[in-house]
Amino acid sequence: MLLEEFDLDVRSASTLAEGRAALASFDPDVCLTDLRLPDGDGIDFIRDARAADSRREIVVLTGHGSLGTAVEAMKAGAFDYLVKPLRPVQLEAVLERLRPGGPASDGDAALWKTLDETGHFGAMVGVSNAMREACAVIARIARSDAPVMITGESGSGKEAAAQTIHSLSRRREKPLVAINCGAVAANLIESELFGHEKGAFTGADKRRAGYFELAHGGTLFLDEITEMSPDLQVKFLRVLETRSFRRVGGNEEIGCDVRVISSSNRDLLEAVEKKTLREDLYYRLNVFPLQIVPLRERREDVPVLAKHFLDRVAENEDGGRRSFSAGALEKLAAHSWPGNVRELRNVVHRAYVLSDDGVVDEAVVEAVLAGRSSGVFVAVRPPAQASPRRSAEPSAAVEGSVAPAAPSAAAAPSGDDPLRVPVRVGDSLEDVERRLLERTLVAVDGNKKKAAEILRVSLKTVYNKIKQYKLEP
Ligand SMILES: Nc1ncnc2c1ncn2[C@@H]1O[C@H](COP(=O)(O)OP(=O)(O)OP(=O)(O)O)[C@@H](O)[C@H]1O
Ligand SMILES: [Mg+2]
Repeated sequence: MLLEEFDLDVRSASTLAEGRAALASFDPDVCLTDLRLPDGDGIDFIRDARAADSRREIVVLTGHGSLGTAVEAMKAGAFDYLVKPLRPVQLEAVLERLRPGGPASDGDAALWKTLDETGHFGAMVGVSNAMREACAVIARIARSDAPVMITGESGSGKEAAAQTIHSLSRRREKPLVAINCGAVAANLIESELFGHEKGAFTGADKRRAGYFELAHGGTLFLDEITEMSPDLQVKFLRVLETRSFRRVGGNEEIGCDVRVISSSNRDLLEAVEKKTLREDLYYRLNVFPLQIVPLRERREDVPVLAKHFLDRVAENEDGGRRSFSAGALEKLAAHSWPGNVRELRNVVHRAYVLSDDGVVDEAVVEAVLAGRSSGVFVAVRPPAQASPRRSAEPSAAVEGSVAPAAPSAAAAPSGDDPLRVPVRVGDSLEDVERRLLERTLVAVDGNKKKAAEILRVSLKTVYNKIKQYKLEP
């Protein structure tokens, strides 16, 4: 009855058998189906409906208690799901997205054309089959409003994928708000997420909007979801269920319309098993799983990505044209890339800094991959006051100097040079790591992003290590 009000040609079926018959006789553009049917499973219906015509879209109706099956339904090819009781506005919104010529159908063809011609798909660059498959999933995910869970190793492009999904979605004009669940202090995260009222706690001198409010109409990107405290997971779940929240210290329920994309570089099922991630939250967030393959398993992408980063860095630095020699590209393609695309980006950056005749050659790439370069360090100027005895060659200092194991060397402290991290055989790795991090942070004036760049680790790693070594109060 509702659908007829939308001026659509509608047929209804009350069993799986009737539904299958209707597929043949009526040939619908869109199907709405329950998951529990008197004579079978709605998932089978989805498979049949999509197999007969892959452009046909299916929307699933599901109860609160059966979100796990909604996930199954999305995997079987459903476009989106609606939680019962059905709200006419939601139904209307889904149908609007599915309208021919509507936001769900435009743009894809053009994107695929660009991917074929240039290897670019939104923020993603790549030509491998794994990448093309990921792009196909992303295009599909972008049309729906369902939660996405992106998994993959550090630096593989989870955030880039989230940006691409957002930029292709109907929410693209609204903000994409990213939260690093591991990086926000536990006592602050609630107010960061939900905002607070004036006077909610000491220091809350004015009302402040939280991430949920800021992302209204847009997308919320929850990075490192497994780092969320159990407490907060409960609150989060509640927001996802009620689509509303309260500011800290407030009584007013504020409605919010956000699409949630989460990410993790950990094994989520293990986190669920160990009870660090709530199972119900996991099911809520993992409706659309998207796995980003490590770079070493899609080496065809290395040359395209390397050229992409080289062009970008040249543009930013001096606008000059650079290219790789064939040997350089071979070296890059042969590397194992434990730090994935982020590592490749950094290697290209350093290789660019070290080469000046327009061609990045094999020798430079080799030196950078072997860790013998210092390009990035040169770019960082330590604060003047921190370094009265700054050495002329900061890179040499930061790389660390191994003192000879003679007892006299131990007595000669070089600890007063803030750019030097003396290392001796006998020191523990942990201690060296802590001191290197500490000194690097001082050298960049506490700028964690810069520290991460210099240390060639992710920003998150810097946050985690700071926590681990209690480097900040
Ligand atoms: N396919 C890609 N095309 C272009 N750039 C990419 C691609 N994948 C990743 N990048 C770039 O590589 C860097 C690292 O990627 P990103 O931050 O998305 O990784 P991540 O998986 O979120 O890592 P982490 O787990 O450490 O947070 C970013 O600068 C990103 O823009
Ligand atoms: Mg990330």
